[in-house]
Amino acid sequence: MLMNRDFLKMKANNEKIVMITSYDFPSAKQAEKSGVDMILVGDSLGMVVLGYDSTTEVTIDDMTHHAKAVRRGAPNTYMVVDMPFMTYHGSIDRSVENAREIFQKSNAQALKLEGASKEILELTRRLTDGGIPIVGHIGLTPQTFNVLGGYRIQGNDSDTSHELLKQAKLLEENGAQALVLECIPKELAKIITNELNIPIIGIGAGIDCDGQVLVYHDLLQYGVNRLPKFVKSYADFNEVGVTGIESYVSEVRNKDFPTEPFTYQMKKIEDLPK
Ligand code: KIV
Repeated sequence: MLMNRDFLKMKANNEKIVMITSYDFPSAKQAEKSGVDMILVGDSLGMVVLGYDSTTEVTIDDMTHHAKAVRRGAPNTYMVVDMPFMTYHGSIDRSVENAREIFQKSNAQALKLEGASKEILELTRRLTDGGIPIVGHIGLTPQTFNVLGGYRIQGNDSDTSHELLKQAKLLEENGAQALVLECIPKELAKIITNELNIPIIGIGAGIDCDGQVLVYHDLLQYGVNRLPKFVKSYADFNEVGVTGIESYVSEVRNKDFPTEPFTYQMKKIEDLPK
């Protein structure tokens, strides 16, 4: 399994880091087989798997339940797990305890926290010192979409771009092992990537980041209908899945399934109950 020091080397050698989200056993098996470098058990789980309107309904139990399945499917891939909405914004002791629970139960390599407030920086330091590697996440932070006024580009003016660079540096100073930049202009992402020593993983942040992350269901068009501008789809599972199920429905109704090859037979017909 690749570890933090390997990702630092990849950054130094200008080798891209590939990350994908995963939420269950089969998608984790696919991710590991495809050779991704990192898996994120994102709280996007709430939207793409559980059908919620946002990530704010996701709980610690949801995250650990799904992360454990991902761990079983991808035992040899570096796995980052999101701390869900408002589970790291109370007292620092409570946040540390929540982090311990998610980290231990899911057997992850790192946890991801959104934001860079004074409290998040302090928590990043505490958890790092205690042995839990932290991946930061700034720019568009979906857990605070109600405060941000929706899912929209961040850091595209002077004040906010300076603020994001400052936040990135503070997260690094406080021990973050890597940083996700979501939905920011590519020019700003390039500056942050060049200024920081830790790996920068972009989503909607252009090509110059050290790595990229996409949501599994977006990249494969699986159960999602509208895609953000920054998503490229590499397959159409919606189409493949519906076509397959339609054929099944039609064959059962037409009595074309199950035919002989899919059927068991008695060894001796006379053994049947009369
Ligand atoms: O939850 C998630 O999938 C994420 C990615 C969008 C980075 O945080």
